Order: sequence, then C-alpha cells, then structure tokens
Amino acid sequence: MAKGTCISKAVAVGIGVITVSSVGGLVLMAVMFQHQISQTRPLEPPKPTDAPGTPTDPPSNIRLFDFLIPENYKVFLQTYLYGAIPNNYTEQSFFFKGNSTVRLKSMKEPGAIYLHVHNLNVTNVEVRKSDSNEKLSVKGYKIHYNESNFLEIQLGGKLSGNGTYYDLFTTFEGELFEDLSGLYASRYTEPSEDEDEEDEESLLQPTDARKVFPCFDEPALKAVFEITIIHRPGTKALSNGIADPHGTQIDGEDWVVTTFSPTPIMSTYLLAFTISDFESRIVPSRPNMHIYARKEAIKAGHADYATEITHTILTHYEDIFELKYREDNLDQIALPDFGVGAMENWGLISYQESGLLYDEDTGSTFDKEWVATLIAHELAHQWFGNLVTMSWWNDLWLNEAFATYMSYTGVEAAGWDLEDLIVLREIQSAFHVDSLNSSRPLSLHENDVQTFSEIIELFDDITYSKGAAVLRMLSAFMPKGAFMKGIRETNQNLEAFMSTWVEQVGYPVITIITQTGDTTQEQFLLKQEAGHDIPWYVQITFIKSNDLVMKHDTLTRKGPVQKPNFQISKDQWLLANINCTGFYRVNYDEENWNKLLMQLERNYNVIPLINRGQLIDDAFNLARAHRLNVTIALSLTKYLVNDTEYIPWESALKNLEHFVLMFDRSEVYGPITKYLRKQVTGLYEYFEEYTNNGTIPDKHTDQIHPNLRRAIYCSAIAAGDEDDWEFVWNEYQRATTAAEKDKLRYALSCTKEIWLLNRYLEYTLDPSKIRKMDMVSTINYIAKNVAGQPLAWDFVRGKWSYITQEYGAGIVSLGSLLDGVTQRFSRDVELQELKQLQREQDKDDQGVAARALEQVIERTEANIQWVKENKDIVKEWFNGEL
Ligand SMILES: *[C@@H]1O[C@H](CO)[C@@H](O)[C@H](O)[C@H]1NC(C)=O
Ligand SMILES: *[C@@H]1O[C@H](CO)[C@@H](O)[C@H](O)[C@H]1NC(C)=O
Ligand SMILES: *[C@@H]1O[C@H](CO)[C@@H](O)[C@H](O)[C@H]1NC(C)=O
Ligand SMILES: *[C@@H]1O[C@H](CO)[C@@H](O)[C@H](O)[C@H]1NC(C)=O
Ligand SMILES: *[C@@H]1O[C@H](CO)[C@@H](O)[C@H](O)[C@H]1NC(C)=O
Ligand SMILES: *[C@@H]1O[C@H](CO)[C@@H](O)[C@H](O)[C@H]1NC(C)=O
Ligand SMILES: *[C@@H]1O[C@H](CO)[C@@H](O)[C@H](O)[C@H]1NC(C)=O
Ligand SMILES: *[C@@H]1O[C@H](CO)[C@@H](O)[C@H](O)[C@H]1NC(C)=O
Ligand SMILES: *[C@@H]1O[C@H](CO)[C@@H](O)[C@H](O)[C@H]1NC(C)=O
Ligand SMILES: *[C@@H]1O[C@H](CO)[C@@H](O)[C@H](O)[C@H]1NC(C)=O
Ligand SMILES: [Zn+2]
Repeated sequence: MAKGTCISKAVAVGIGVITVSSVGGLVLMAVMFQHQISQTRPLEPPKPTDAPGTPTDPPSNIRLFDFLIPENYKVFLQTYLYGAIPNNYTEQSFFFKGNSTVRLKSMKEPGAIYLHVHNLNVTNVEVRKSDSNEKLSVKGYKIHYNESNFLEIQLGGKLSGNGTYYDLFTTFEGELFEDLSGLYASRYTEPSEDEDEEDEESLLQPTDARKVFPCFDEPALKAVFEITIIHRPGTKALSNGIADPHGTQIDGEDWVVTTFSPTPIMSTYLLAFTISDFESRIVPSRPNMHIYARKEAIKAGHADYATEITHTILTHYEDIFELKYREDNLDQIALPDFGVGAMENWGLISYQESGLLYDEDTGSTFDKEWVATLIAHELAHQWFGNLVTMSWWNDLWLNEAFATYMSYTGVEAAGWDLEDLIVLREIQSAFHVDSLNSSRPLSLHENDVQTFSEIIELFDDITYSKGAAVLRMLSAFMPKGAFMKGIRETNQNLEAFMSTWVEQVGYPVITIITQTGDTTQEQFLLKQEAGHDIPWYVQITFIKSNDLVMKHDTLTRKGPVQKPNFQISKDQWLLANINCTGFYRVNYDEENWNKLLMQLERNYNVIPLINRGQLIDDAFNLARAHRLNVTIALSLTKYLVNDTEYIPWESALKNLEHFVLMFDRSEVYGPITKYLRKQVTGLYEYFEEYTNNGTIPDKHTDQIHPNLRRAIYCSAIAAGDEDDWEFVWNEYQRATTAAEKDKLRYALSCTKEIWLLNRYLEYTLDPSKIRKMDMVSTINYIAKNVAGQPLAWDFVRGKWSYITQEYGAGIVSLGSLLDGVTQRFSRDVELQELKQLQREQDKDDQGVAARALEQVIERTEANIQWVKENKDIVKEWFNGEL
C-alpha cells in the first residue's frame, strides 16, 4: 500500500488554514490538489543550491526534470488533409507539419534539454537566450524511441540557471492516422450524401500532446498556448482559444490561417484541435459558446438539447462553486470518431456523437439523460481538473471523482431527478471492483505510476466511482454545507477519516449483532482471505423500527466493540448506513435480516428508498462472499412484486443477472427465469407485448416508443434469421443518429446463429464496418449473449496480441474488454485459459490491462467456488418459489 501522497494531510492543513471561503467548493478542491492551484506556478522553482546541478544524462524514468519550466508556446500547425475528395483517395493527404517556440525558464545549468515527442519527425532545433536573442550552439538532438518519448537536445555549452529565459524552437512533420489518438483523421458520411468526408480530431489525454508537437507533456507543466492552424479552404479550425480565420496564399495554393487567442495557463493534455466543415448552434445567453456537429445533425436539430441545457448546468456550477466560468468561450463538438465518451478540453470539449446529440424523434429517455450526464461531467471539469489540476497522474482520481460527484448535481439542475442514482451507478460498481484483492487504493504513490500502461490503467472504476463515493461520504461526514464551502468547523478527525479511505485498498463490511450490540469491521473480499490490519474510520448512521430519526456512531477500531446504540429488543429491527452514504457494507445477525425482510413485505416505505436497493445489493454480495446464507438474499427480492421503484429493482436485477450468468449454461437457468418472469410481470406488462411480438416494423423509426427500441430490436434479431440480420445490418449502416446506430449494433449481437456471431466478431476488427471506438462494446455485447460468450472469448484470446497492438496504444479500454468477455466465467477450464493468457502476456512483456487480467482471474476463482457451493441450494430455492 502506497504511503506518501497523503491527500488527507493536505485537506486537514488546508481546511485548517482557510476559515472563510470566497470561492466555495473550489477551496476544498484546491487544498485537495496537493501542489498547485492554477495561476500559481505549477512547480515551486527549486532554490539555487551549491550542488553541481548540471545533469546531462537523461532522467532515469519517464518523468522530465523539474528545473526547466515552460511558460508559453507559440505553435503553428499546417495540415494538408482535404475535407472532401469525391471518390478518390489517392489525392488525399494525411500529413501535417509545423513549428513551435516554447519560452522556458531555467532553474539549473544543464548541458541538455529534455522534452517529449512521439511519432513526429523533428527537422530542426534552435535554442536562443530570450533577452538577447543570442543563439546557443546545439551539438545535436535525438529521439529516444522507448517509452520515455524524450527529445534530447545536446547543447554546446550549458544553460544558465537562476530563472534565465530561453526560447526553444523546433520544426516537425507528422502523419495523420485514423487511430483515435493525438491529432488524427476521421472519415464519415452524411446520411443524405454518398461521398465520404474527412475531418481531423484530437484526443491528447493522457500523454498524446507530444504526438502533435514537441512539448513538456506532463500535467503539472502548465503554460499559455498560442495556437495557429493553417488548413484547407472550406474547413473550419477549432482549438481552445477564440478563432480568427483569414485566407492566404502559400506556394500558389489557397489556405486559411486561423489564429487562436492565447489559452489560460493550462496542461498540455487539455489542448484540442479539430478541422472540419461542421456547423454550429449558439448556446442561448452565452454568445461565445457553440455546439458543433456534422452539418446534417445540426440541421436536423440534434444539437438543440445540448444548447438548451449547457447554460443551465454552467450557471448551476457557477452558483455552487461561487466562481464564474473563467473563460468566455466554450465550444462543444460532437465527433464521428472518438475513443472515449467525452473529453473536457478547456474551451473545446469533445464528445462522441451519442454523448452530445439527441434526436427527439428516435432517441430514448436514456439517450437524452446520457447527453445531460456527459455534459454535466465535462462542464464540472472546467473547474475541477482544468482550473485546478493534479500534478501527476497518480492523483487522477481527484479530477475524475470531483467531476463525477458534481455531475449528479449538474444533471439534477438540468431537470433530471437522478441524484440518488449515484448509488447504483457509482457506489455499487465501485463496491464490485473494490471487493477484489487485486483492486488498488484510490491514490497511488507517484513512483507507482511510471509507465504508459500504468497511467492508462488509472482510468478505471476506482478512479471514477470509488472516488465519487468517497467524496459523497466525505460530504456526509462534514457538517452540513461545509463540503461545498470548504470550511472546517469542528471536525478534527477529517485527516484520520480520509486517509483510511484514500490510501488503502478495499472497504469494510460492518457486522452488527443486534442482540448484544457487538460491532466489528473487516475488509470485504469476495474471496475469503486475510484482509487488512488497518481499520477504516467508519461513521455508522442508523435507524430503528421504533425510532426512525437518523442517529450516528463511529467505529475506528476493528472490534468487536460493544455499541449499546445497536442493541435492540425482540420486536425491533435496526438498519445501518442510511442512504448508503458510507462506503461500506453492513451485515447483521440472521434474526435482524429476517425482521427487515418482514418489514419490506409488510410496508416497505418505512425503509428509505436507497436502503431498499442497498439491502438487496449488500445481501447478495455478502452471500457471494460466504458471509450470508444466499436464501436470505433471494428472499429479499420477493417483496419487489409490490415495489415499483427503480433503485431497488435495478439493484435486484443487477444481482440476479449474476445468477443468470453463473447458471445460464446449466439446469438452474429454467427455474431462475421462471421466477424472474413472475416477479417482473406486473412491472413489464406493457413492455412484454412488444418483446413477445418480436417484430421490427417496416419503418422502424415509427410506431415504437423509443425507450423500448433496444429491447425490441434485440428480441427480433434473437428470434429472426439471416435475412433479418442483414436487414438490421443495413439499417445500422444507414442510421442517421449515433444513438440509433448503437441500438442496432447491440441488436445484431442478439442472434442465436453461431456463424452470424462469428462473422460479426470479425467485423469488429474491421474499422470500415465497426468503428474503432465501438470495438470493445460490440465484442462485449456479443459476449453477453449466451451463444456468443465462448465465441467472443475465443476470438479475444486468439487475437489478443493483434488487439493490444492495434488498440492498446490509445485509451480504448482493453480492461473493460476483458471484464466483459469473462463475466460468465465460473469453470475451471476458463480459469486455466485466463491464466494461460496471463503467462503469455508476461512473456511478451505487454503490460496492457495487466491489473484487469488479475481482477478477472480473481473473480473467476471466486465464481468457481461459489457455484460449487451454492448451485443446489439456489436451485432448490427457485423451485420452491414457483
Ligand atoms: C484519382 O486521382 C488520381 C490523381 O489525380 C488519378 O490518377 C486517378 O485516376 C484517380 N482515380 C479515380 C478512380 O478517379
Ligand atoms: C512557423 O511556421 C509558420 C507557418 O508556416 C511560419 O509563418 C513561421 O515563420 C514559422 N516560424 C518560424 C520561427 O520559422
Ligand atoms: C530510454 O532509452 C534511453 C537511452 O536511449 C535510456 O537512457 C532510458 O533509461 C530509457 N528510458 C526508459 C524509460 O526506458
Ligand atoms: C545564481 O544566483 C546565485 C545567488 O544569487 C549566484 O551566486 C550565482 O552566481 C548565480 N548563478 C548564475 C548562473 O547566475
Ligand atoms: C519521417 O521520417 C521517416 C524516415 O526518414 C520517413 O519515412 C517518414 O515519411 C517521415 N514522416 C513524415 C510525416 O514526414
Ligand atoms: C493480495 O494482494 C496483496 C497486495 O497486492 C498481495 O501481496 C497478496 O499476495 C494478495 N493475496 C492473494 C491471496 O492473492
Ligand atoms: C435519504 O435520501 C432521500 C432521497 O432518496 C432523502 O429524501 C432523505 O432526506 C435522505 N435521508 C437522510 C437521512 O439524509
Ligand atoms: C441456508 O438456509 C436454507 C433455508 O433456510 C437452509 O436449508 C440451509 O441449510 C442454510 N445454509 C446454511 C449454510 O446455513
Ligand atoms: C405485497 O403487498 C401486500 C399488501 O400490502 C402484502 O399483503 C403482501 O404480503 C406483499 N407481498 C410481498 C411478497 O411482499
Ligand atoms: C403485437 O401483435 C399483436 C397481434 O399481431 C398486435 O395486435 C399488436 O398491435 C402488436 N403490438 C405491437 C406493440 O406491435
Ligand atoms: Zn472526466
């Protein structure tokens, strides 16, 4: 367990010092971000010392030295791509070149300069002293073709220290690939046109700014960027600043030169560039904010919803953070090819089309909510992450946890009643990964994040979901209102509290014996093994049947501690962790479980909504971890015939889905589905009619309610034959909105025909059929289908080295691919196959998704044991309920 980067210390100190806050929540944020606040220099310049301080050898890892501090970049990029070349790609030009002048401050006297460059040819390097413009002699420069990506510039002499300024000038050339990283090309077709069009897009997080121009590509090395893009007429360039285009002639050709206003002081990973012929809508009340998208999407009004809610969400944040969005301009753009859902580039946020565009006619409620959710997340980043940034990737969770946690309030402000869903979407998913020994602490030590794979692996559920869960808990732990204000009033235990949750892996299960009040905590692990020695600092909230007013108590030792508070009489029940604000599970003596069960059946409204879901989730997971008889978990689902709320239902379905996955290849499957059908009938009567019909209407955009489309298409394909499959495949290719395309792409995975599934799997690695960005989710859809599961696994296993090579370099999540294709694994042979893959991967020394692989192995081992022990009892229970 990493010690050292102790967030909690910063919290305690910072909050102790600042008693009155003028900038609200940002203060808390700022103190949590340990080293830096925007507008201050990212790194404290080292004090001149007597030490020789003239290193010329490269840094020993992938980190740059900290004594050369970039302050300003002037970057020119000239890209040769045409927007459209009718039917003839031989004339297309996948090429760009440029130059960059970076002003840097030298604090020591090195004989060499190191910065980053990747996949670029550097054609010239000059170094000048800024005040005199005197040119220094450059002995040579070379690129380190290993993971460090260093551009090493050997000087004839040495730089001066003491804050002397230098201008480093480089010229470079690069190629445009369709690889979704750095600056890349993307091909798309407007629905009403036959010709392909081409645009340029960028995704630079975490370490791909160096693929666009040589730079000091670390988040702490913030600077001002003055960008100029020279591009073909008929296209429009966008970047972080405000664009000012004008036409010119270069070598007899027409070009457009677009200069951008200087950016605020910012990290390289937040830069963005797009060159396209997209059109835009202005955000009402925000004249310098636009939503950009393909021309036909704009014309069809698909950007209208985003324009509607942007102002509302932004204003909501400005109010609660008590700080205006700092920059005037903010564009959001929907990109045909984008490897992640969205990226918060400062002033130019990028989205997948399905993340920003919404079609009132065909989109479902969920599609619309997804747009609101992503916008709320990315807008929150304009403060959390952009204005204040982690100094190294090990603290990525600070960025993402704040944005994720805040986004629930942002979406609420946009009119969606789903703040409580944070429990389903973040907390329960975080519980899941974090119940594995191969999970990781939220905050890692800086030294443990030193390779590209180690950085990429951080973009996981721990960072996003556990991070958000822990912040939600912190907010409940602090006095009301203090979280947003960042003010510490009375709470001296904050540091002790936070460090136990941030620095150590996992989370506890609190066991309460209500007859005696004996209370213990232990690490909750899916597979029984010795957990932690260090106890968590747990605040336990609770109610009792005779006293529904919430009280609280704390547990800071492992126990057992006798808590008179938790003792109850024969006819009472106790419920702990009200609204699941604490990141822990609760187990009780069997008697209390049964009393809670009876309460649910008598009158479930007495139990708070969130806890109805959490009781179910806790019980099922306690059963998986052999801490509770599985029949109690199953019995908790019986009362659902009476409950129509989403949170308890979704909690139950998620857990029953695990049963289905474990048993859908066995004779237990029949009774399970019968029971499920019985429970669900009332709720889904309406829905059932469509599903049973299993038909796709001739005009699939008509007649059907959008919310049901996904399920209907899927069951139609499941019941259908090859012709139906081909029909939907054609519809998929013709569909005009990304959300609709996604539903059809999912439906195609529902067929029972093995050869169709195999062919579909082959399509996933052919970017002309399935876009690169959709590869992982398509294979995972196929693996969800019981007929597709073994095919998907064999496919992934067989092509693993190709997949890691072609897709592993970007941020495409191979971890979630592994997670998806092994969901059902519960057999010895499957475990052996996983271990074989792990051995091969070790041999090839490709670390990609190494942690994910460990996690799915551990999960499979737990599943094997669980199925062995529980199959009979589960079967018996379901049979008894029929
Ligand atoms: C495409 O353009 C090239 C160069 O102008 C030309 O030689 C070639 O014939 C064209 N191909 C087609 C299919 O039009
Ligand atoms: C950088 O490139 C731009 C555009 O080609 C050019 O105008 C400018 O002179 C170059 N800068 C230097 C210092 O050569
Ligand atoms: C990269 O290669 C250089 C030699 O060119 C070596 O000094 C450095 O340690 C290597 N860095 C990494 C991270 O492998
Ligand atoms: C840097 O400053 C120190 C103290 O002011 C001085 O002794 C030293 O000579 C300076 N070094 C350079 C390279 O200017
Ligand atoms: C970079 O240099 C290599 C080797 O000289 C050459 O093959 C490649 O085409 C160059 N790339 C660009 C974009 O100029
Ligand atoms: C659990 O994780 C720790 C730390 O990573 C490791 O040392 C230990 O061997 C693991 N235990 C098992 C049973 O895998
Ligand atoms: C629990 O959450 C509900 C919303 O689901 C809220 O109305 C209630 O006030 C919360 N209870 C406590 C004790 O915070
Ligand atoms: C679990 O409960 C069932 C039914 O209540 C019982 O038959 C079974 O023996 C119990 N299992 C264990 C391990 O206690
Ligand atoms: C459903 O509600 C009715 C009326 O309150 C109750 O009698 C019944 O026991 C409940 N059923 C279940 C399974 O909880
Ligand atoms: C389902 O099929 C029945 C009988 O063919 C028909 O009356 C009904 O309208 C269909 N429902 C839907 C939603 O298509
Ligand atoms: Zn984010």
